[in-house]
Amino acid sequence: MKYQFSENLKYMKSSAIRNLLKYIQQPGMISFGGGMPNPETFPIEKIMEITSDVLSNYGKNALQYGTTDGLKPLREEIVKFILKDENIKCNPENVFITTGSQQALYALSKIFANPGEKVILEAPTYVGMISSLNANAVDSESIEMDENGMIVEKLEDKIKSMVDNNRKPKFIYTIPTFQNPAGYTMPLDRRKHLIEISKKYEIPIIEDNPYGDLRYSGSKVPTLKSLDDDVIYLGTFSKVMAPGLRTGYVIASEEVTAKMNLLKQALDLAGDSFSQYIAYEYLKNGIIYDQVPKTVELYKRKRNVMLEALDENVENAEWSKPDGGMFLWLRLKKNVDTEKLLEKAIEKKVAYVPGSAFYHKNPELNTMRLNFTYAEDDDIREGIKRLSMVISEA
Ligand SMILES: Cc1ncc(COP(=O)(O)O)c(C=O)c1O
Repeated sequence: MKYQFSENLKYMKSSAIRNLLKYIQQPGMISFGGGMPNPETFPIEKIMEITSDVLSNYGKNALQYGTTDGLKPLREEIVKFILKDENIKCNPENVFITTGSQQALYALSKIFANPGEKVILEAPTYVGMISSLNANAVDSESIEMDENGMIVEKLEDKIKSMVDNNRKPKFIYTIPTFQNPAGYTMPLDRRKHLIEISKKYEIPIIEDNPYGDLRYSGSKVPTLKSLDDDVIYLGTFSKVMAPGLRTGYVIASEEVTAKMNLLKQALDLAGDSFSQYIAYEYLKNGIIYDQVPKTVELYKRKRNVMLEALDENVENAEWSKPDGGMFLWLRLKKNVDTEKLLEKAIEKKVAYVPGSAFYHKNPELNTMRLNFTYAEDDDIREGIKRLSMVISEA
């Protein structure tokens, strides 16, 4: 049979990162390409204990379909955790459990924007948001970033011109803390300015904060959500527990969570009950507070190793110096295309993600994302030496 697929598919592309996987598995390859947490940080023993407790204590519910909003006791624990962790005040009715925050990105794109309508992104931005927009045929405009994240000073003019053209953006998507891919963090004054603009033009902000707990230097900056209750906040257990459990959450007004509920009924009825019970025990027993410092210690060391190796070896490039998260952003001279350069890098057995993967439109071709949390320390040093050779030859 000759299948006739829907028009929707025409915008959907496989992510450059998934395409990289085939190279990363080659023997001897040092990869700074992945975005996966280091498995050393997974609390395997604790999860073994929790799993057995969950099955003994709640087995019949944990293996049953759950409610679409998510497990109530987990939502109650998230309310307590997020107050302590990020000073966000909310009720269980404001917490909506998603299958990773990736599902929230897809759902929010669908809830807020019709096909062809526009939203505002940072450039570069998270690749999973780009695929969610593409899957929903949603268009975008981007705001450049500097080392302080989105240049909010440029946002208002952009919005004005979009409004003048009858293309008012449906939301502003930002990762203000340890941005993926760039590693930048937005300071408080810019956060306040961003909120002011969002209020003035009545454009909701979506704040994606998967890395907020992974800080290695500097001091905490308040989340947008703690400054303004209208912000739609995305959290996840992927970086502070384990991504395989696919448990994330949205904190938003009940008006928004009700729409999320309608859509989730069509997506998967409800999230994974078993994982939600595990996340519940993980929070309730305070295991998260023992685990996160261990992850921070490991990642901080690896960040320092990579920054030192870059300082010692790499010329003709500049890079971000992230205070947290998992990535840094490296920029070469304008005429170097890192997609083409990747072939040379693969020959020298080092991999990265070309920056073009992180732009919805108009990519900056001379950029790349480097993950510093996955490789062994010695491999980070060796990989950066290899990369420096590739860069010098370019
Ligand atoms: C900025 C950002 N948002 C969302 C996600 C998705 O996380 P998950 O679906 O595992 O919760 C990631 C994962 O790397 C991310 O970096």
